[in-house]
Amino acid sequence: MAMLIDGKATSRAVRDEIRAETERFLKATGMLPGLAVVIVGEDPASQIYVRNKHKACEEVGFLSQVHALPEATTQEELDALVEKLNHDPAIHGILVQLPLPKHLDAEEVLLRIDPEKDVDAFHPVNVGKIMIGTDSFLPCTPAGIIVLLKRHGIEIAGKRCVVIGRSNIVGKPMALLLLRENGTVTICHSRTKDLASVTREADILVSSVGKAKFVTADMVKEGAVVIDVGMNRDEAGKLCGDVDFSAVEPHVSAITPVPGGVGPMTITMLLQNTLKAAKKAAGIA
Ligand code: GUN
Repeated sequence: MAMLIDGKATSRAVRDEIRAETERFLKATGMLPGLAVVIVGEDPASQIYVRNKHKACEEVGFLSQVHALPEATTQEELDALVEKLNHDPAIHGILVQLPLPKHLDAEEVLLRIDPEKDVDAFHPVNVGKIMIGTDSFLPCTPAGIIVLLKRHGIEIAGKRCVVIGRSNIVGKPMALLLLRENGTVTICHSRTKDLASVTREADILVSSVGKAKFVTADMVKEGAVVIDVGMNRDEAGKLCGDVDFSAVEPHVSAITPVPGGVGPMTITMLLQNTLKAAKKAAGIA
């Protein structure tokens, strides 16, 4: 039986630590860490994500602002809100929920966010810092996966790590963070030839493809660790990951379930980045 990598329990433990630190921060500064989330339009999935971020902030005692703008918001209006939040001393983290409506330029908005408040770590300055290892913020999903591995006693150094997917949000930064932990890293993607022969080399396999049952039993090495970043719906409409869980689980040493694996860690890392930004703004190491 594979060990289940429990994202819910790990997330709870990290949030408890963040809540305790938030109390210390309040005593020291008289302030709360503040997160502003900006959402434009009515995308239902985004609305759920934003509600969950707000709830998570309340749970750890942060100041939480949600700026819900109508679909018809112009680029100038959105840019102006970001500028205002950049200069608001009560706000330490700014997150613009993606995707934005088609008429808005996400790159333009992300460039406007003060890198010191960019708790998603999407600003090119922060992306560059991650590359050279001088970062203040790590991107939330890959950072959450590293915490999950470490808190479940899974060694990364010297391991063969294979990441499927090369997105800017997950695949590419995941590869960099595994490299930083001294893993030997390969990135696979839609043009990779004989994918299964590469993934079967993996001691640690991370899948962020976005297709249900994409990772099958023949693609994993016996005893591997499998991390499933997928958030898909199966034929019955049930939430599932990229990994054919029931077929793969008997062959591996550890695996993340979906739901309850990687997902809960992403928002927790957002909280951690916001606390870090607040401490930095207050001059507390
Ligand atoms: N949409 C889906 N995931 C994310 C995320 O991590 N950050 C932002 N800003 N938008 C998202």
